[in-house]
Amino acid sequence: MTSRKQTELINTIPKTELHVHIEGTFEPELMFAIAERNDIRLKYKSVDDLRAAYQFNNLQEFLDIYYAGAYVLLYEQDFYDLTKAYLKKCYEEKVVHTEIFFDPQTHTHREVPLENVINGIVQACIDARNEWGITYRLIPNFLRHLSEEDAIKTFKELLAFGDLFTAFGLDSSEKGHPPAKFKRVFEMVRAEGFLSVAHAGEEGPAQNVWDAIDLLKVARIDHGVRSIDDVVLLEELARIEMPLTVCPLSNLKLKVVNDMVDHPLKKLLDHNIVATVNSDDPAYFGGYMNANFHAVNEALELSDKDIVTLAANSFKASFLPDEEKQKWIGEIGSLIS
Ligand code: ADE
Ligand code: ZN
Repeated sequence: MTSRKQTELINTIPKTELHVHIEGTFEPELMFAIAERNDIRLKYKSVDDLRAAYQFNNLQEFLDIYYAGAYVLLYEQDFYDLTKAYLKKCYEEKVVHTEIFFDPQTHTHREVPLENVINGIVQACIDARNEWGITYRLIPNFLRHLSEEDAIKTFKELLAFGDLFTAFGLDSSEKGHPPAKFKRVFEMVRAEGFLSVAHAGEEGPAQNVWDAIDLLKVARIDHGVRSIDDVVLLEELARIEMPLTVCPLSNLKLKVVNDMVDHPLKKLLDHNIVATVNSDDPAYFGGYMNANFHAVNEALELSDKDIVTLAANSFKASFLPDEEKQKWIGEIGSLIS
């Protein structure tokens, strides 16, 4: 049983979020409001109807609904409202820094200009920094179910906004689309001086984690939970301090794990891996950052030390400057000493 003290620790400890898709924070209420003002008819009759459809047997079933939901996002104001609502949650949950993913191709493929997407997201981030002190980084992700040529074309278009981005990532359907497919575009990303991250080892095998590191030269692995199948990989991840941005409620909802008590997070920590907790697509998976912490804390009976390690890892694995990381890690350490 989780103590009141631990609940309080989770809710109040400063943390960063390193794995959240802004399109995955689209709450049904906001989706209906934006659909109405944009004169778009949703295929669901009500918010409750839509929520009831959020039952997934695998990643692809989720992605089909997630891309359909994003169709109502058209204008800068839509992306602003979406992002500001997520950042308000961050403020309420003591997420002091967030590194936000977005999927440019989901929008450009239906003729929504990149300016609408990027200006809306950026303005919300600037306002949240001014109002709530939240810092941020932006990470466009390439869709791995599309071709590498399409990713390269998108990358070239995004370079016009290059100063706004810290890194580039890779998401969408992992099965059938291994890291090797995107080797060239990740070389271009590096040549332009950006960092990179990639979803790997979510539904796909541990080999995809090796390949994301060796072929794509990523600075972090998104998910990476299938690394648990490969003891040599676990040792390597610990040795090179490669962070894993783990998303517990996502893994449960997409049946990557059958039960939260089977989630490998605690084992990853026990292997000294820089694992972090994140929400992925919180509007679809039943909770934001703190709900993810509470879910693993309850199921895996984490200690106070584990919670502090997870929060400290989130700063360690972030793309913040070193002195800022150290400031936050020092503050976290003082909470249980
Ligand atoms: N896009 C949004 N959420 C994702 C996930 N969990 N895996 C892959 N692509 C995604
Ligand atoms: Zn993700």
